[in-house]
Amino acid sequence: MTESSPAMVKAEGVHKSFGAVDVLRGIDLEVRSGEVFCLIGPSGSGKSTFLRCINHLEKINAGRLYVDGELVGYRQKGDRLHELKDSEVALKRRDIGMVFQRFNLFPHMTAVENVMEAPVQVKGVRRGEAQQRAMELLDRVGLADKARNYPSQLSGGQQQRVAIARALAMDPKLMLFDEPTSALDPELVGDVLDVMRDLARTGMTMVVVTHEMGFAREVGDSLVFMDGGVVVESGSPRDVLTDPQHERTRAFLSKVL
Ligand SMILES: Nc1ncnc2c1ncn2[C@@H]1O[C@H](COP(=O)(O)OP(=O)(O)OP(=O)(O)O)[C@@H](O)[C@H]1O
Ligand SMILES: [Mg+2]
Repeated sequence: MTESSPAMVKAEGVHKSFGAVDVLRGIDLEVRSGEVFCLIGPSGSGKSTFLRCINHLEKINAGRLYVDGELVGYRQKGDRLHELKDSEVALKRRDIGMVFQRFNLFPHMTAVENVMEAPVQVKGVRRGEAQQRAMELLDRVGLADKARNYPSQLSGGQQQRVAIARALAMDPKLMLFDEPTSALDPELVGDVLDVMRDLARTGMTMVVVTHEMGFAREVGDSLVFMDGGVVVESGSPRDVLTDPQHERTRAFLSKVL
């Protein structure tokens, strides 16, 4: 990853409101290809909403949002924007993996079945092939021996690692993490962060909403502090965390560090 890497995500003046509530009030940022981009901010500041906009789960009200050079949800012809059909949106969403705070595994499927499901159902990959790949991915997240377990037979940290393997099974070009460790008991957080650290090493572009400042500092390439639907401050994690320039950033960090 270098300064000149192309933008994997580019937001220009992104606005999002729910009814009369302005949740995103002009977000400008750029996530470069191959970087780990951490997003922090108080509850309600719009972090999850922004991730959902990247993943086409929410439609923005104004501004421009690009993933890998393409407009999210629209096609531009000349000066006009044409909204994409649901099927086209679904096709693009395949390229973006998302991992949530709550793991959202299918409870009636084993770990390996959870990981195989999308490649088989969505991409039409043959079951044998999908299963082999799923086993490789479970091995990668340290869970080869839990492949036949159901989610209820796994710890929270193990379930989250299955969820990461499941997202990776679709070969995403971008991974979004929304507080992936905040529902976990403290002793389970480390294994999940290790998996994310490994993933970062492979060059995966990652946008990570997190409260894990240690992870952000060690693994993050960029850090953005959001508050009230705007980017208050951004820079290298070390700079933002150790020498915040804005009072709001300082106030937030004094509570979480
Ligand atoms: N579907 C929705 N309808 C109405 N309001 C919403 C909706 N989704 C989010 N909001 C509001 O948008 C604001 C931002 O929510 P969001 O979930 O993006 O915050 P967040 O920064 O992720 O917070 P947290 O750290 O608690 O997860 C909140 O005030 C929330 O109530
Ligand atoms: Mg959130």
